[in-house]
Amino acid sequence: MSSSFTRLRRLRTTPSMRRLVAETRVDPAQLVLPMFVADGIDEPRAIGSMPGVVQHTPDSLRRAAAEAVEAGVGGLMLFGVPDPEDKDAVGSAGADPDGVLNRGLRALRADLGDSTVLMADTCLDEFTDHGHCGVLDTAGRVDNDATLPHYEAMAVAQARAGAHVVGPSGMMDGQVAAIRAALDDAGFDDVAILAYTAKYSSAFYGPFREAVGSSLQGDRRTYQQNPANRLESARELLADVEEGADMVMVKPALSYLDVVRDVADRTDAPVAAYQVSGEYSMIAAAGERGWIDADAAFDEAVLSIVRAGASIVLTYAAVQVAQRLR
Ligand code: PBG
Repeated sequence: MSSSFTRLRRLRTTPSMRRLVAETRVDPAQLVLPMFVADGIDEPRAIGSMPGVVQHTPDSLRRAAAEAVEAGVGGLMLFGVPDPEDKDAVGSAGADPDGVLNRGLRALRADLGDSTVLMADTCLDEFTDHGHCGVLDTAGRVDNDATLPHYEAMAVAQARAGAHVVGPSGMMDGQVAAIRAALDDAGFDDVAILAYTAKYSSAFYGPFREAVGSSLQGDRRTYQQNPANRLESARELLADVEEGADMVMVKPALSYLDVVRDVADRTDAPVAAYQVSGEYSMIAAAGERGWIDADAAFDEAVLSIVRAGASIVLTYAAVQVAQRLR
């Protein structure tokens, strides 16, 4: 007896059957854990708006990084949180070999060698007293071309400190080409660039501002993309690939899965997507209240991001997701 309609439910009957026909699989090696290392603290400091995430001391950073590698996470993305008095108009502490981020990179590379992929956030905003991702002109606007030499110096310092990958997240035009040339000139032609290709001006970065003690007043709409735009990301992609990006990224992830798919369809380069602070905190906070099963929601979010076309996912839940996958 055959029924007249298609029986799709046959392939959903048992866990083994569902596993056999799964179209998307997530592996811990695809996950990248963003981490914060801060100056001037003796103990890891909880970030109130990101339950379960902390600003690390140098020691706790090393322990947590080792734990992440042990869990099978594929990479670490490091952000620095300097002392407020070390911030200035041009973000000098970012390129200082003794700045908090570069010290953190050196320690992690010494501990971990090539056992993971060590990535560095290459942006001025954590280090500038005004909190913008670039330097300002006399009218107070972010000056694209005057910013590039600062990114170059920062990227070279990060490479020297041991980063395998630099991640320019400032959305200045020409930043990938400028950084590539500077790295090559300094002899770091093996250091890769993870380009923040499609980075939208997003409310979902809210908790990150607390995480890095950002000084920003106002917004980043003159350099980050308008959430209304999809085709613009294709143009950003063309520019970044032409400039020498080794990997490209879409950020945030969950509200931009159409963009993840577009970018994946248009390039053969590895595509990353960043589940940002606000995406993390929404799930974590609802989980704390018992309104949602946070573990299941994180697993589903990561799976969805991979299904949309990302082969690399940056997520603050990387270790927990990786441990559940084992
Ligand atoms: C800029 C940068 C930001 C994030 C990563 N890199 C902040 C911003 O653009 O405002 C946000 C990450 C997150 O929200 O998790 N250096």
